[in-house]
Amino acid sequence: MKLSKVVASIVLASSVVSVSLVAKRNSDAKFIMPSKVPAPKDNVMTKQKVELGRILYFDPRYSKDGRVSCATCHDPKKGWSDGHAKAIGVFGRVGPRNSPTVLNTAFQSHQFWDGRARSLEEQAMGPMQAHVEMDMKLEDVAKFVKGNKGYKAMFAKAYPKKEITPDLIVKAIASFERTVISLPSPFDLYLKGNKNAISADAAMGWSLFKGKGHCTDCHDGYNFTDGSFQNVGLGDDDIGRQKLKMKRKAWAHAFKTPTLRDVEKSGPYFHDGSVQTLQEAVAICGNGGRYPGKAGVSSMIKNRNLTSKDIDQITAFLKSLSGPDLPVVIPTVFPN
Ligand code: HEC
Ligand code: HEC
Repeated sequence: MKLSKVVASIVLASSVVSVSLVAKRNSDAKFIMPSKVPAPKDNVMTKQKVELGRILYFDPRYSKDGRVSCATCHDPKKGWSDGHAKAIGVFGRVGPRNSPTVLNTAFQSHQFWDGRARSLEEQAMGPMQAHVEMDMKLEDVAKFVKGNKGYKAMFAKAYPKKEITPDLIVKAIASFERTVISLPSPFDLYLKGNKNAISADAAMGWSLFKGKGHCTDCHDGYNFTDGSFQNVGLGDDDIGRQKLKMKRKAWAHAFKTPTLRDVEKSGPYFHDGSVQTLQEAVAICGNGGRYPGKAGVSSMIKNRNLTSKDIDQITAFLKSLSGPDLPVVIPTVFPN
């Protein structure tokens, strides 16, 4: 071999090595939480808005039976969910789906299991009106808030000179939700180089999660979701995202890939709350769905031949994604 060729191949080989090292570093960099939370231009965050939104979030008085608030179904003590398979609203009415966590929803481009709302502002209008949730007319919510001196004063500070409308109410709630962001977990410390922050099993689970298990095909990036809608083959009657466009066959039984941050705290799992344990959830997503081979299931849901040891290690990794609970102050008295 001519010297020039040898040099060329060494240069080539070393550049391949450095490229793959960079790629490896970069591929893990995407799992690091961003330091900023996005907010829409017409609702930039302020302390006053967040404070007002927090009170509204916990206030059950503007629901049909006066007992149900956002926090009933998205309780900070229950991983911002409710511990029920299916949500329970006013007068004990049971809804069709599981309450998802509110944690990190500020990062999502679509809200609800089927993605039918885009912003948190738009989303919050839904539960206020839903028959199985708070069952109110938006005008009546606004009437209640306007007739309350304490709230009026808070609105005047948060949104000076603006008339109190449903639009303004959901803006305040959304501002609070943008503070419901996961705190650093042992996994985050591990990513930053503290190799002892998680157990050996969890570290193996992380490799399996990215490798053999193909979990990052969907649960990708710092919030462990790529925002895609997928049919993971649970086999229930809910057609999911297809309801938005009946013609889209590919949307049948497709639901949003959920975040996995703090997932240990927010069971039961999946849009129908049919799964009690993380092990079971991992087995469904990782070994071909609940009924392997079922028609219509996402082509990325395959039998990855995960052994029970693999599943336990992936579960240990998922538990390493639990950070401390947010120090949110739950109001005990409400404005009058
Ligand atoms: C009765 C229980 C209940 C109440 C009350 C309730 N929610 Fe929900 N919430 C749910 C359920 C169930 C879903 C999923 C519904 C669906 O996807 O069709 C949901 C979805 C959401 C989502 C989307 C999460 C995601 O990842 O897609 C957000 C955000 C949210 N709720 C915030 C709120 C706010 C704010 C309030 C108060 C104004 C509220 N919820 C009141 C049960 C409830
Ligand atoms: C094809 C995309 C895809 C792949 C690959 C995938 N998931 Fe999922 N995962 C989803 C979707 C979509 C849901 C919610 C489905 C539903 O409720 O119908 C989900 C739900 C979950 C849940 C329940 C979370 C909750 O809050 O309800 C866990 C845990 C989970 N996945 C873990 C994993 C693990 C671990 C792997 C790898 C073995 C994996 N997933 C692979 C898309 C995927």
